[in-house]
Amino acid sequence: MTRDEMAQVLATVTATTSGKIPAPRVKAAVDRIVGDLFVSIEELDVTPDEFWAAMSYLAQAGQANEFGLIAAGLGFEHFLDLRMDEADRKAGLEGGTPHTIEGPPYVADAPVRVGEARLDDGSDPGEVLFVEGQVRDTDGTSLAGAQVEAWHVDSLGNYSFFDKAQSDYNLRRTIATDAEGRYRFRSIVPAGYGCPPDGPTQRLLDQLGRHGRRPAHVHFFVSAPGHRKLTTQINIDGDEYLHDHFAFATRDGLSPPVVRETDPEAIRARGLDAPFARITFDFVPEAERASLPPAEVHRIRDKAA
Ligand SMILES: [Fe+2]
Repeated sequence: MTRDEMAQVLATVTATTSGKIPAPRVKAAVDRIVGDLFVSIEELDVTPDEFWAAMSYLAQAGQANEFGLIAAGLGFEHFLDLRMDEADRKAGLEGGTPHTIEGPPYVADAPVRVGEARLDDGSDPGEVLFVEGQVRDTDGTSLAGAQVEAWHVDSLGNYSFFDKAQSDYNLRRTIATDAEGRYRFRSIVPAGYGCPPDGPTQRLLDQLGRHGRRPAHVHFFVSAPGHRKLTTQINIDGDEYLHDHFAFATRDGLSPPVVRETDPEAIRARGLDAPFARITFDFVPEAERASLPPAEVHRIRDKAA
């Protein structure tokens, strides 16, 4: 089919109306994407069997609730991040903590604690981890009462809520910073994990000759009045997938050193009887600017009943 013929088909499809006023952004996006797909189908000579296999795949991905994973794995979420970076740069924002993708496993309304929290429920035999730091402005002013939301997987690589074997909100807490802007939590070192091995995302990655692994990491939202919400992750340094992240979420400055504490005095001081890991990480959210697109991203997120 020639380009002109394709353009004619597209014009027929996109000109169809019922007399109702279309939603302009939706119409512009759908018209564009349909046209781009017509071209892709033509140029790749996609067969009807291949087309319907793709449709069936999308249905399965929806049924498995894996579009969040697919968006991460195909680089869309990272691409959106880079576009946000560009907007930040143009607005002259600098000095803040790098943001990176949220990923799909956030669950709203985790318990709130002031100053410090324990994230694990004590049932996970993993290595004890302490994470602590300060939330401060780009000019160094500490931000008291900032909210640090943290969530991560257990030592088997599973998130509570999705893994029903874990207690409610295990490894998920919101910590409000103390008067000095400090937060601190005790947890266990998360494992690295991969996409569900039998799920639609991993099946697609297999076809693309890719793995679905990511390094062990802890997710954060950091919110403070007058500041842009920071969505980020820190990786557990030394993980073999640190720079081979299936969702492209590793960014410079987000893999702080992990200190392995073996000093008996330090172990006793923390009330422990075995060596533990310690990470210090400060968060620097950017001050809000009216000229920037909102930092709060709206998407449907899970919420425990
Ligand atoms: Fe994650």
